[in-house]
Amino acid sequence: MGHPVLIAAELRNLLDATQLEGLDVTWIAADEATPGGDWIGLVPLLSRWVGGTELKNLPQLKIVANVAVGYNNIDLVAAELRRVMVTNTPDVLTDATADLTWALILACARRLVAGVELVKSGHWTGWHPEQLLGLELKGRILGLLGAGRIGQAVGRRALAFGMKLRYATRTPKPEFEVETGALRVELGGLFREADVLSLHVPAVPELRGVVNAENLGRMKPGAILVNTSRGDLVREDALAAALESGQLGAAGLDVYADEPSIQPRLLAAPRTVLVPHIGSATRDTRRAMAGLALANVQAVLAGKAPLTPVYR
Ligand code: DGY
Repeated sequence: MGHPVLIAAELRNLLDATQLEGLDVTWIAADEATPGGDWIGLVPLLSRWVGGTELKNLPQLKIVANVAVGYNNIDLVAAELRRVMVTNTPDVLTDATADLTWALILACARRLVAGVELVKSGHWTGWHPEQLLGLELKGRILGLLGAGRIGQAVGRRALAFGMKLRYATRTPKPEFEVETGALRVELGGLFREADVLSLHVPAVPELRGVVNAENLGRMKPGAILVNTSRGDLVREDALAAALESGQLGAAGLDVYADEPSIQPRLLAAPRTVLVPHIGSATRDTRRAMAGLALANVQAVLAGKAPLTPVYR
């Protein structure tokens, strides 16, 4: 009999038998409540809340191996109190998420959705010198709120487009500055200076709603906001208002405050590129994320240190 482990059923096709060796797996679908019992490991998707009640109902639990780099679906305080290890999946999804961020930046800057809609509508009347004019990225400023792994990967890609970089972080990133010429600025300055502002911070309480009416009001007219991080960084009603009034040029969003529902006002707002939380959605990356989560489980069950702990 292997170690009893609960694993998100949606990961089944991304894992192979060797990764599950020694485990007695119970698969739980995303729409099933977390059961209580003697499971030792839990491998949830980011959509599963793992709080005090769930942890209390799993008294033998040693590890929650989240299949995401973000872990705002887990009550860390409750986990730490119960001495349950929490791990995430950093690194393996950095490039996929940075690529998707750039897909959104380019789609917003070059009005891709409006162009596709025009062609598909059958109302395109032919080339016109002022049709769907976008924002030239070369020479413009990309602002990064957060410059961890993904923020830096987004910043490096900006150099290929001739953009200049500003970033706001709690701690300076001297190597990133040397490599890219990025300048560190205060939060207010970042909102004021960016032509394109991209969010790469975790959903910590102090940053909840940081993209609010006040900060949006600081942005240059026509600037672009991109969010591939977490939805609750943005006050969605304020964002919708900034798009409706024309103050904000466009918004490219992969994440939302209350997924999978999207605020009707935001859904109806003009000049948006809205995609369904697919930042890390390449087969290679999703396999790597699932594999890393299972490697963390196997390490902890073998009495070793986890590979990517959220806290030590
Ligand atoms: C994460 O890992 O936190 C991402 O949002 C998943 O795509």
